[in-house]
Amino acid sequence: MTHLPRNAAAWDRLAREGSGFARVATDAQIADPRATLDARGWLPADLSGKHVLCLAAGGGWQSVLYAALGCRVTVVDLSEAMLDLDRREAARRGFESLITPMRVDMAALPDLPGAPFDLVHQPVSACYVPDLSAVYAGVARVLKPGGLYIVQHKQPASLQCFGPLPDGGYRLGAEYYRTDGTENRRLPDPDAHTRAAGLREAGCAEYLHTWRHLVGDLCAAGFVIEDLTEPNHADPQAPVGSAGHRGRFLPPYVRIKARRVEVQAPRSNLVLP
Ligand SMILES: C[S@@+](CC[C@H](N)C(=O)[O-])C[C@H]1O[C@@H](n2cnc3c(N)ncnc32)[C@H](O)[C@@H]1O
Repeated sequence: MTHLPRNAAAWDRLAREGSGFARVATDAQIADPRATLDARGWLPADLSGKHVLCLAAGGGWQSVLYAALGCRVTVVDLSEAMLDLDRREAARRGFESLITPMRVDMAALPDLPGAPFDLVHQPVSACYVPDLSAVYAGVARVLKPGGLYIVQHKQPASLQCFGPLPDGGYRLGAEYYRTDGTENRRLPDPDAHTRAAGLREAGCAEYLHTWRHLVGDLCAAGFVIEDLTEPNHADPQAPVGSAGHRGRFLPPYVRIKARRVEVQAPRSNLVLP
């Protein structure tokens, strides 16, 4: 089975099982959507009426929170079960006219309703596709020049990590490069600890994107990086093997604030003295 049907089936199942990534926005979060979405203060002051693409973001969380801020939201995902949560929450919250759910592969974005967008928000998801540059190229195409792209990825070292070991440490169990020297590896299936910690998902095809691709391909696609953060999941009290314990050794995620640069006038149009 190729990665698309495999991951669609896996995420349909995860949505039905109530995965932590399929938790819809709560009343308290809806009451303060900006604080919920944007602890770092990356979003523009006024979002009302802005067109937002929530990319690979099914699950009834991001779409509903942006709608609560007055945005017009297109939410795309591969999993119908994840998108059903957006449909259900949009109806329950009276946001049906603001939220358009669509089943789309993030690596082959078509012309989407709402494009060109002012903002693209992509939660952790690029690990489920082999070609990250195709995702970035699609985002660059559907985003307005000057538009904001907020994206979170799993850190490569965290994806390489297995364990715990008997001494409470962790094992670097997946190679960074493929045996042919190229990058963007398909990862081995996660061990039970890694799944239980919520750091990998059972049944998904996942790919390790190296830093050259996570950051270099983003710049090559026409973005400038304005900020970068590694959300801190370390918990000194957490038991060995849990996400909080592993987070003391390795940050699981990297979050990037990037801006689509203005399209430059072609040099051939310049009149030289
Ligand atoms: C970790 S969940 C993110 C959603 C969640 N709302 C959150 O807050 O993190 C990853 C999502 O990526 C989606 N996904 C996986 N492969 C995809 C693809 N090729 N195109 C679009 N979405 C994909 C999954 O169906 C899943 O809903």
